[in-house]
Amino acid sequence: MTKTMIRSVIRGTGSCLPARVVGNDELAGRVETSDEWIAQRTGIRRRHIAAEGETTSTLAIAAARAALADAGLEASDIDLIIVATATPDYTFPSVATQVQAGLEITHGVAFDVAAVCSGFVFALATADKFLTSGSHRRALVIGSETFSRILDWNDRTTCVLFGDGAGAVVVEAQEAGGTVSDRGVLTSHLRSDGRHRSKLYVDGGPSTTGKAGHLRMEGREVFRHAVGMITDVVEDAFAATGLTAEDVKWFVPHQANKRIIDASAEKLGIAAHKVVITVQDHGNTSAASIPLALDEARRDGRIRQGDLVLIEAMGGGFTWGSALIRW
Ligand code: ACO
Repeated sequence: MTKTMIRSVIRGTGSCLPARVVGNDELAGRVETSDEWIAQRTGIRRRHIAAEGETTSTLAIAAARAALADAGLEASDIDLIIVATATPDYTFPSVATQVQAGLEITHGVAFDVAAVCSGFVFALATADKFLTSGSHRRALVIGSETFSRILDWNDRTTCVLFGDGAGAVVVEAQEAGGTVSDRGVLTSHLRSDGRHRSKLYVDGGPSTTGKAGHLRMEGREVFRHAVGMITDVVEDAFAATGLTAEDVKWFVPHQANKRIIDASAEKLGIAAHKVVITVQDHGNTSAASIPLALDEARRDGRIRQGDLVLIEAMGGGFTWGSALIRW
């Protein structure tokens, strides 16, 4: 076969979840809520919460090591690190450069991307542009978050929704035939609309309050926009490739809320048995949710080589995006 182009192929996955698990009942002891309310409205039963000393970069480094081991590669094989996060350890340096140092990588480039819950899709799409341009060969793409550090633990409308964790993938540039049968990222589509800032934001930052701030959200408004934005950007991915919902083997959405996931799958015509759902165990881990779900579904044998995997996310900004990946 004539080799005509480069594709970004996922070679390995890894994840790291903090050891501490907080169930809904424990939260009901802190704010006026109940396991029943949380489970019914969101599907969430429990979430992992980082311990003191556990940070976005320590979780990211552990997830990266697991992904490298899974790929059968050494840290020195990596020449690009992109970390998607909204909860960096520090205003700077980036989490990505801390991962680079943690893995003792002294070549290549590392940087963060900020697209909140859509961050992993944005980071993977960015890595894909670097790899398919020929400038870099192997990337670590990581979503890592410690949302527990920016939650207002007295606000029951937000604190019950989120969790901490990190997921990573190793992506490698490989020559391919240029068809949708190729392994790798087949297409990606990113969108944003800054007019929606006030619906989901953090009320602080270095240039305003000088503090990290707390997450604020108009949940009903986010819900109202989510399904339409998600389905639009997935339809863009189908239109760009000629692939359809029928061709999708696994739908791995951002895990914000089971009701958003179910409504999106239904609107897209994707059967429930194809949907990977982890929100019950992880809560919303923002940029980490998709790589955490990919790692779980790959390790338990659901996602296999050759499967068509659809990922999508929507989050603060608003930002939203999708990608179709042949595993
Ligand atoms: N426990 C008990 N009651 C609660 C809680 C809670 N944790 N939180 C809110 N309530 C109350 C409200 O105060 C309200 O009471 P009222 O009627 O007396 O005023 C009532 O429950 C209903 O509140 P709503 O906001 O209308 O509840 P809704 O059914 O919309 O569910 C939720 C709220 C779960 C936040 C929903 O709107 C949602 O999922 N929105 C999407 C937001 C989201 O997923 N954001 C994640 C970040 S963005 C992303 O990742 C895509």
